[in-house]
Amino acid sequence: MKRVAILISGGGSNMLALVRDMVGDHPPRPVLVASNVPHAAGLARATELGIATAAVDHRNFASDRAAFEAELMAQIMAARPDIICLAGFMRVLTPAFVAPFAGRMINIHPSLLPKYPGLHTHRRALDAGDTVAGCSVHEVTAELDAGPILGQAQVPILPADTADSLSARVLVQEHRLYPAVLRRFASGDRRPIAL
Ligand code: GRF
Repeated sequence: MKRVAILISGGGSNMLALVRDMVGDHPPRPVLVASNVPHAAGLARATELGIATAAVDHRNFASDRAAFEAELMAQIMAARPDIICLAGFMRVLTPAFVAPFAGRMINIHPSLLPKYPGLHTHRRALDAGDTVAGCSVHEVTAELDAGPILGQAQVPILPADTADSLSARVLVQEHRLYPAVLRRFASGDRRPIAL
């Protein structure tokens, strides 16, 4: 049984999609939901589902990113995960954090990487006049939003779209893509999925 830890910063809708899919014959099981935001709504949802949670407030560590990551990693390691899924986790992780989980940490990003790494992806796609947007699941490496792609889903950009309407349309696909990628990734298959 593959033990999966999920890191969130907010509502955790992607975390819920992953948890809801980790049932039945599908081997992974969620063993921890952790956040850098103590009152992240996703932590309460995880608790309701009987999943252990942890919170490490990055604001308690001021500018000491290494100390924050050391505490977060200690709490994660206590759950003995085989795989870490970043799901709406909004802190940039240093190479020191990623190293112990190289090849075993994945992330969902709301753009068709390598386009638009970083923030405000939907706004940037609209400003560029793109006609297609989407989301990507990738392996987490030392470079932000740049690891090998494990899956992508596309959505059309409509003339009347705003960043909010586009974000909502992409989020629906995130909730389809991430569980599908985790199933395949947990079985040791790294071939990319195109939805
Ligand atoms: C989503 O836009 C997702 O693409 C990004 O974080 C946002 C919130 O995700 N990674 P969630 O609802 O907290 O899973």
